[in-house]
Amino acid sequence: MERTLIIIKPDAVQRGLTGDIIKRFEQRGLKIIGMKLLQVSRELAEAHYDAHHERPFFAGLVEYIISAPVVVMALEGSDAIAAARASIGATKPSEAAAGTIRGDYGLEIGRNLVHGSDSVENGEIEIANFFSEAELCGGWQRDVDGWVFE
Ligand code: RTP
Ligand code: MG
Repeated sequence: MERTLIIIKPDAVQRGLTGDIIKRFEQRGLKIIGMKLLQVSRELAEAHYDAHHERPFFAGLVEYIISAPVVVMALEGSDAIAAARASIGATKPSEAAAGTIRGDYGLEIGRNLVHGSDSVENGEIEIANFFSEAELCGGWQRDVDGWVFE
């Protein structure tokens, strides 16, 4: 089983899309093992996007992520990283396929609604950056698991 960190970004929370976005991951079969609403600190935003530190959009990206509350989720499932990113869609919403979150709700790269971890290793690191061990229900038994996971 893989784990991915999903961030429902400030634009999605402000636009009232939180419920729809959670529903899409839930109905895909991904298991929620952690979830909360928070306003991201500048320090946490800079750490989360550290890989983009030298990029020209870094300062704007940090301002965007800290501008309003976000909902963060830790999700677990087989191929959770690739499956979640496929449901999220291409980074640039105007190029994202219809049926994806970005393709259905977005237009611009700087307002692209959702984050999903890009590797198993980064998923573990990002979940640890946003959640304490006590905030995660890693071992909970979901009764439908046998109908989702083979
Ligand atoms: P994310 O990390 O948020 O899931 O998005 P991603 O993998 O699809 O894209 P990534 O390359 O990791 O970029 C991280 C976020 O930075 C913003 N961005 N802005 N103005 C620009 O050229 C630009 N490029 C990237 C986006 O918010 C993107 O999601
Ligand atoms: Mg990324």
